[in-house]
Amino acid sequence: MDRLLIRGGKRLEGELRASGAKNSAVFMLCASLLADEPVTISNVPHLRDITTMIELLSTLGVDVIIDEKMSIEIDASTIQSLVAPYGLVRTMRASFSVLGPLLAKHGEAEVSLPGGCAIGARPVDQHLKGLEALGAEISMHDGYVRATSGGRLKGGKFIFDFVTVGGTEHIMMAATLADGVTVLENCAREPEIVDLADCLNKMGAKITGQGTDCIMIKGVERLGGCHHDVIPDRIEVATYLVAAAATGGKVMIRNANPAHLDAVLVKLEEAGADVTLGDDWISLDMHGERPSAVSLVTSPYPGFPTDVQAQLVALNSVAEGSALIKETIFENRFMHVQEMNRMGAHIQGAGSNTTVQVKGVPSLQGAQVMANDLRASVSLVIAGLVAAGETEVSRIYHIDRGYEQVEEKLQSLGAEIRRV
Ligand code: UD1
Repeated sequence: MDRLLIRGGKRLEGELRASGAKNSAVFMLCASLLADEPVTISNVPHLRDITTMIELLSTLGVDVIIDEKMSIEIDASTIQSLVAPYGLVRTMRASFSVLGPLLAKHGEAEVSLPGGCAIGARPVDQHLKGLEALGAEISMHDGYVRATSGGRLKGGKFIFDFVTVGGTEHIMMAATLADGVTVLENCAREPEIVDLADCLNKMGAKITGQGTDCIMIKGVERLGGCHHDVIPDRIEVATYLVAAAATGGKVMIRNANPAHLDAVLVKLEEAGADVTLGDDWISLDMHGERPSAVSLVTSPYPGFPTDVQAQLVALNSVAEGSALIKETIFENRFMHVQEMNRMGAHIQGAGSNTTVQVKGVPSLQGAQVMANDLRASVSLVIAGLVAAGETEVSRIYHIDRGYEQVEEKLQSLGAEIRRV
């Protein structure tokens, strides 16, 4: 199994280009199932989660053509199966969201339940209630969800019990082909939801209100082909900015959208970074200084993203002062803490708590570490970059799910990192 070896202690300096947003692209691949004609998605990152989704589409009999620049053409008119098997859905929760598009287009579908997840229970109750509000009949058997609609879904009103990103995207997709108008309330407002709605509208959907907590979808009878460019990956951008800040470095990230990163940039400035913004770039300069500790609470967009929490714990572990980090989206999302403490960090309160206190130390010590989720793993890479000596991060298949060419990108910023 691949591991990353990092020799820490170097300031990150240089320039890199952000990839397209994984969390947009995976849902657009689901959305392509709604169309009668080929849909082309470009600026797609080359990642394991994307390959898994393509494998799932191929299993359904959908034609997928990928070019060398990761522009993906999906022709769902060749579909042969309406069953998404456990083997694929289990490895990536977002793939559960093929259920709504398959149901909306074909009147029936069967998708395996995603199963447990390393960062908490992550049930799909809101997805299922939302589909039921559009007239779907849902039943369970042998770990599979079966949904039928006996014709078109019916437009309706649905209020999410709480904010869910995947739930909002799932029901929004299903409602595009429903008969009548759907109003979704208490929706998530993430930029990836706006990106997905923009893509669906190019296919002929009639969606308004995306990016607010109330989305209205006027159902149409069919959707056609389109070409859509995925937005930049704000979580990837944030990760490299935090990594640079933790090392006292200076970076310029191109192909970024600063408007999507307000909550993170505020925290980086609080940590002592000079941040400069352009239309599609962000530069950060720590002037060689050690960061100051910054407290934060994760919350749905536009709040501080849970997907950047672990990276900020890594930064705080070597900061001047002490910080409180509160996680409100997922239970059990502090798996990086014990590993960082093995590297000499002073972090208290992990376990079942939702808040940890990080007391910054001048430097961490390299160690052999591993984590079992994507963002926790990358936070250990950041810890390795600020540690003295060598750090070995194992189970990096988690990182490969969400970070394109992570070691090449870090090497281009001067990091001593290699895959073995
Ligand atoms: C998406 C992102 C993920 C990010 C998360 C929160 C993708 C592919 N993944 O995940 O990177 O960390 O948003 O910003 O876009 N919940 C339920 N029932 C449901 C749905 C969700 O209880 O039916 C709970 C979850 O367990 C979690 C919370 O709601 O505690 C938020 O989850 P949600 O926003 O749905 O996250 P995902 O869409 O899975």
